[in-house]
Amino acid sequence: PTIYAITPTYSRPVQKAELTRLANTFRQVAQLHWILVEDAAARSELVSRFLARAGLPSTHLHVPTPRRYKRPGLPRATEQRNAGLAWLRQRHQHQHQRAQPGVLFFADDDNTYSLELFQEMRTTRKVSVWPVGLVGGRRYERPLVENGKVVGWYTGWRADRPFAIDMAGFAVSLQVILSNPKAVFKRRGSQPGMQESDFLKQITTVEELEPKANNCTKVLVWHTRTEKVNLANEPKYHLDTVKIEV
Ligand code: UGA
Ligand code: MN
Repeated sequence: PTIYAITPTYSRPVQKAELTRLANTFRQVAQLHWILVEDAAARSELVSRFLARAGLPSTHLHVPTPRRYKRPGLPRATEQRNAGLAWLRQRHQHQHQRAQPGVLFFADDDNTYSLELFQEMRTTRKVSVWPVGLVGGRRYERPLVENGKVVGWYTGWRADRPFAIDMAGFAVSLQVILSNPKAVFKRRGSQPGMQESDFLKQITTVEELEPKANNCTKVLVWHTRTEKVNLANEPKYHLDTVKIEV
């Protein structure tokens, strides 16, 4: 099956560095289609140029987050992930579902992905799950597995979440996305950290989850976060002698 990676991204000094790291990983994965969704009113020149040279199959979308939702404490990238879902559904609406096997996962632009992760998620039948490193105030969070079934969650943060898992901790088969056409990320009523649960509730149950990464005992993806860059000495006007592509 093709792996579809939906990546929300937004303009900031580290954006091209993040996308470069991600592309260097994705390029090594067979049959991966990258759906890059800019949080912007239009597709940017920077990302367009970057994708043209990235050397992997991709789709470049954009949708701006409404200004009222750009506040600390509110979930990020809701509209962008939904735009990716809409594109996938649109693209496959006229095709016979079984003829086009696919697996979707949500790949934020700042995380770190091992190549082994893609081997694991490619065998997703409905919804698969695995541990995520450096998240929830712990070295890792993970689904607890007994007899091949998820029976709970190892987490240091909001253990009451129905699916106590980060966005980087699950994959969904394309067939599940197509047969649940209304499943989307919601702004209304979604508390911080509940996006994953609110979405997964619409398409699956805890009992149905397929544990990957050796019964969820191996960390294959890390919720790394890039430090804010220090631009204290950046001149107010372009002082360099030539135009620089950053
Ligand atoms: C955590 C989770 O890992 C995210 O999946 C979740 O979306 C996020 O919390 C949340 O609060 O909603 P965190 O590292 O705090 O992640 O979030 P970011 O990595 O800053 O943002 C998640 C994704 O959205 C990234 O791909 C980022 O490029 C994108 N983003 C962020 C935008 O498209 N627009 C923004 O204004 C901010
Ligand atoms: Mn992040």
